[in-house]
Amino acid sequence: MRLLPIISLALYPSLGLSQTTAITVDLTKTYQTISGFGFSQAFQRAVQLYKLAPAVRDKAVDIFFNTTSGAAFSILRNGIGSSPDSSSDHMNTILPRNPGSPSLAPAYVWDGNDSGQLWMSKQALAYGVKNFYANAWSAPGFMKTNGNDAGGGSLCGLAGARCNSGDWRQAYADYLIQYVKYYAQEGIPITHLGFLNEPEFTASYASMISSGSQSAEFIKILSPTLAANNLSSIKITCCDAEGWQSQAGMTQQIVSAGAESLLGVVTSHPYTSQPGSPFNTRLPVWQTEWADLNGGWTTAWYSNGGAGEGMTWATRIHSGLTSSNISGYFAWVGTQSGGTNEPLMRIDGANVIVSKRVWAFGQFSRFVRPGAVRVATGGGTNLRISAFKNAADDDVMKGALAVQVINSGTGATTVNIKVSGGTAATAVKAWVTDNTRDLNETTATLGTDGSITGSVPARSMVSFVIS
Ligand SMILES: *[C@@H]1O[C@H](CO)[C@@H](O)[C@H](O)[C@H]1NC(C)=O
Ligand SMILES: *[C@@H]1O[C@H](CO)[C@@H](O)[C@H](O)[C@H]1NC(C)=O
Ligand SMILES: *[C@@H]1O[C@H](CO)[C@@H](O)[C@H](O)[C@H]1NC(C)=O
Ligand SMILES: *[C@@H]1O[C@H](CO)[C@@H](O)[C@H](O)[C@H]1NC(C)=O
Ligand SMILES: *[C@@H]1O[C@H](CO)[C@@H](O)[C@H](O)[C@H]1NC(C)=O
Repeated sequence: MRLLPIISLALYPSLGLSQTTAITVDLTKTYQTISGFGFSQAFQRAVQLYKLAPAVRDKAVDIFFNTTSGAAFSILRNGIGSSPDSSSDHMNTILPRNPGSPSLAPAYVWDGNDSGQLWMSKQALAYGVKNFYANAWSAPGFMKTNGNDAGGGSLCGLAGARCNSGDWRQAYADYLIQYVKYYAQEGIPITHLGFLNEPEFTASYASMISSGSQSAEFIKILSPTLAANNLSSIKITCCDAEGWQSQAGMTQQIVSAGAESLLGVVTSHPYTSQPGSPFNTRLPVWQTEWADLNGGWTTAWYSNGGAGEGMTWATRIHSGLTSSNISGYFAWVGTQSGGTNEPLMRIDGANVIVSKRVWAFGQFSRFVRPGAVRVATGGGTNLRISAFKNAADDDVMKGALAVQVINSGTGATTVNIKVSGGTAATAVKAWVTDNTRDLNETTATLGTDGSITGSVPARSMVSFVIS
């Protein structure tokens, strides 16, 4: 090793060993409030993880949720089962038997398992997760026009969906609330409730078709049913559409039908069209499911910019938060076997392999906690920059400011961050992810003028956490 004379950098800053980029953060200019970052273990992925050796599965759970050494995910998305059985990867329903008519008493069954998701939820809760999103892919088959929870079909009783068996709209609302009550009994507070998944797509698995107007019709039943059960604090979500464009259309129909005020969160997936400019709504927007479904498994942070790489995901999250006013950002599935990038972690025989996508999410989720407010940034057009002021009462970040910097260039950049509009910084820490590091702590310094200086390595993401 050769010792570099330290003085040389100070004397000859123009040598260009590392360019310095000025970044500004204005705490007085605020944008959306962040709900958090999530993933799902639906369709028995939770069972698959649970069945691994305790040491292996506990390590995976720790990497997902630990707020000091893990990715610190803050929302879990559970699938509300609609299948009469648990064969294959089916999620079984709490109402396996058709009561015969919507007016007859339903015989709910709670198996204390919920396709492994109750266990997963309890793990998340133990790590401090406070947001639980329960999301149905379909109503039970007997409530639908096609008599099956799979293969599309619509909820009987909605406009354009008449059934000889009657009007099952209220029964479906009651059923969703019963699911919430079972979770409450188990100590898990469901905070968000969705009744649709990709309602424009007839899947061979659990699926249910709905237009925006039909969704509005159901929201007008679900909302008072929640209130009648003293559960108004639970936010209704809609509609987990397949793509941003179709969700924009559905949202417009919900607004036109006068149901926007009863809705809590607008939710969409980006499979068929990706987030662009913000939706035309005052409600928070969540991107609730996305993955590289078919790409060959990679654990890389950066290799060639492929759809499964960590830095690609960090960039997607950044752009969703800064360009599309997104408040909640979800990966599709946490763990799964097989050779694609669909899961964040791959179950490979008895082992779990962690992809850098976990750390891309972690780089946001660890430092941008539920309740954080996005604030304005300036400068650094060669970088992707965002900043978030955490809530003072957040037990992890305790009001700290997170300045998030992605450098997709091939050279390191030194940044100098000046924060205006708040009290003076008292301390700074920084964490980095790149090809060799997974949310490792790195150096950053607080200058006498109150500005922060640190290096953002080539093809990396660094979070500067300023107290
Ligand atoms: C849940 O039920 C499945 C069978 O469907 C079983 O294999 C599993 O051990 C149960 N418990 C958990 C936590 O997954
Ligand atoms: C999170 O990880 C730290 C070690 O980094 C450990 O001390 C702590 O117990 C873990 N938290 C939980 C809730 O297990
Ligand atoms: C409603 O729920 C709140 C807590 O969410 C509780 O304090 C209150 O007692 C409940 N009221 C009724 C009528 O159950
Ligand atoms: C961004 O979302 C928030 C809710 O999270 C909303 O109040 C605000 O109006 C939205 N802004 C834009 C530009 O859509
Ligand atoms: C990153 O941190 C881990 C411990 O969390 C450590 O084992 C590893 O050596 C660090 N990597 C680098 C490149 O510093």
